[in-house]
Amino acid sequence: WPYLAAALAIGYALGSIPFGVVLTRLAGLGDLRRVGSGNIGATNVLRTGHKGLAAATLLGDALKGTVAVLICARWGTGAALAAALGAFLGHLFPVWLKFRGGKGVATFLGCLIAVEFVAALGFALVWLLFAFITRFSSLAALVASALTPVALLALGSPHSAALFALLTALLWWKHRDNIRRLLAGEESRIGAK
Ligand code: G3P
Repeated sequence: WPYLAAALAIGYALGSIPFGVVLTRLAGLGDLRRVGSGNIGATNVLRTGHKGLAAATLLGDALKGTVAVLICARWGTGAALAAALGAFLGHLFPVWLKFRGGKGVATFLGCLIAVEFVAALGFALVWLLFAFITRFSSLAALVASALTPVALLALGSPHSAALFALLTALLWWKHRDNIRRLLAGEESRIGAK
């Protein structure tokens, strides 16, 4: 139990670093939360027109999840999964931003890379496929995340599957405005001006 609590705390500490907000502010672009969808993720950084910054945000928000899981994996699988949960919750509800964080896609992927690399590869491929065909970042994330628990089950990791089912539910809930816009035909596409 002390290890699980420590892993949760380490995960939260790393996960709550909002790379999108920090990097765009350092670049002198003002407050990212006043741009586009108002979200703090890489998709919204891309709307500032700075592709390099968007890529750096994606990398930072993903790697914080990967690093958290790798640090805590020495205490066993339970601690690794607790770190993933902590990192994801940290990104969604960062204390630094009055608990108004991001939608979790990059951090979901980053955690998955460390938990089950093959499933992460599948997530990335499905995301790229749907993003390429539809140009909707949100839709690609919704589909890829929904398939992840199924993939983890198929790969024989029921505990990881259970945790990622919870993360997927939270990710979908955070995308509720995107889902509404998708259904109304009002969602903005990648690269749209
Ligand atoms: O994955 C983040 C993306 O799914 C949605 O971001 O800024 O379009 O709401 P945004």
